[in-house]
Amino acid sequence: MRSVSEVSARELFAPLGPTYDRYARLLSFGQDPRWRRFLVSRVPLTAERVLDVATGTAAVAIELAKGVQGRTVVGIDQSPEMLAAGRARVERAELSDRIELRDGRAESLPFADGEFDALTFTYLLRYVDDPLATMRELARVVRPGGVAAMLEFDVPRGMWRPLWELYVRVGLPLAGAIVSPGWREVGRFLGPSIREFHARVSLEQLWRDAGLRDVHARRLSLGGGIVVWGIRA
Ligand SMILES: C[S@@+](CC[C@H](N)C(=O)[O-])C[C@H]1O[C@@H](n2cnc3c(N)ncnc32)[C@H](O)[C@@H]1O
Repeated sequence: MRSVSEVSARELFAPLGPTYDRYARLLSFGQDPRWRRFLVSRVPLTAERVLDVATGTAAVAIELAKGVQGRTVVGIDQSPEMLAAGRARVERAELSDRIELRDGRAESLPFADGEFDALTFTYLLRYVDDPLATMRELARVVRPGGVAAMLEFDVPRGMWRPLWELYVRVGLPLAGAIVSPGWREVGRFLGPSIREFHARVSLEQLWRDAGLRDVHARRLSLGGGIVVWGIRA
């Protein structure tokens, strides 16, 4: 089995586009949509132009646009396969006039400084080589005073930790293997990736170092997920 750093996000997500939404929900015990709704609730309704990075199949982009008249959302992702599934989903939601999905990398965004009123990103920082440099690049495109918010998996603490370990070491690899070869790779990769990331990165400190102020974090679902948000200084 390859180590976490050897698995590129590009390869990992290529086969997942068409089945991503169904199995992401299943493998997170149905928590995923709830976490995204909390993430989106951090973005003020007054934010008119919002960027969603690592938008994947556009779940967050749709949640951002839904119910906020006049808001436009740009979703960026490096996986054409995930974006293809995202475009179909945006069309089904009848939001093609307000959501634009584009190819792009978080490390080098094709936007001017301060172009957006708000920024969201989901399950991204584990996949980049230099989280601080990427975080600075993400903050760069938010106007001063604008809100940034992210969602990531976390490692539960206390009595929940052994159960989480059991799930990511046994349950997830097994469930992934049953679904498909692509999901088998995800099932094996996810636990070590989450564990190693949180062992080396302090998210709130990273955000401050990248130029965000008033940084807050909320752990969700017994600590299985975390939402961090703050204001572009
Ligand atoms: C787990 S998926 C999350 C998708 C979506 N945000 C969601 O909540 O369902 C992670 C996404 O990050 C994208 N990604 C990973 N590294 C990236 C990078 N450096 N730049 C842009 N997208 C990236 C992958 O292609 C994938 O679509």
